[in-house]
Amino acid sequence: MKLLSVRNLSVTIRGIPILSELSFDMAPGRVFGLVGESGSGKSMTALALMGLLPHGARRTGSALFQGQDLLRMAEAGLCRLRGNKIGMIFQEPMTALNPPCDHRRPGGRDGAPSRKPVSPRSPCHCPRQA
Ligand SMILES: Nc1ncnc2c1ncn2[C@@H]1O[C@H](COP(=O)(O)OP(=O)(O)OP(=O)(O)O)[C@@H](O)[C@H]1O
Ligand SMILES: [Mg+2]
Repeated sequence: MKLLSVRNLSVTIRGIPILSELSFDMAPGRVFGLVGESGSGKSMTALALMGLLPHGARRTGSALFQGQDLLRMAEAGLCRLRGNKIGMIFQEPMTALNPPCDHRRPGGRDGAPSRKPVSPRSPCHCPRQA
């Protein structure tokens, strides 16, 4: 069974090839890693699937998610999926996550992580590096 099935995904930006004939499957409940050198197109792959490519981009191929082709969905349909069925954390988590939350901070009575926003200037709670 496949959660997402990408076939022959190609992207150009203002005519410049960015991705060429990329195909892969994601299975439900499994972790999928996409590995490549800087500039190889990992972010563009995610942005293409989310319908968030920059102006001047063109994409071809197919990306079946729950029976729907993400590359052919109207914007309204993608808006219903984004954040509900498909989430994305953009490349710089300290600016992409809003508000930033420290999930290691002790929570309320039920022990759940605190949702209190953390100031970017607050002390870091990471364990000290040796
Ligand atoms: N807005 C843009 N306009 C034109 N080309 C772009 C744009 N953004 C990225 N590119 C190009 O698309 C290609 C793929 O970039 P991408 O950001 O997907 O790489 P990446 O694999 O995510 O790299 P990194 O590991 O550094 O995050 C690169 O050649 C990059 O120069
Ligand atoms: Mg990237």
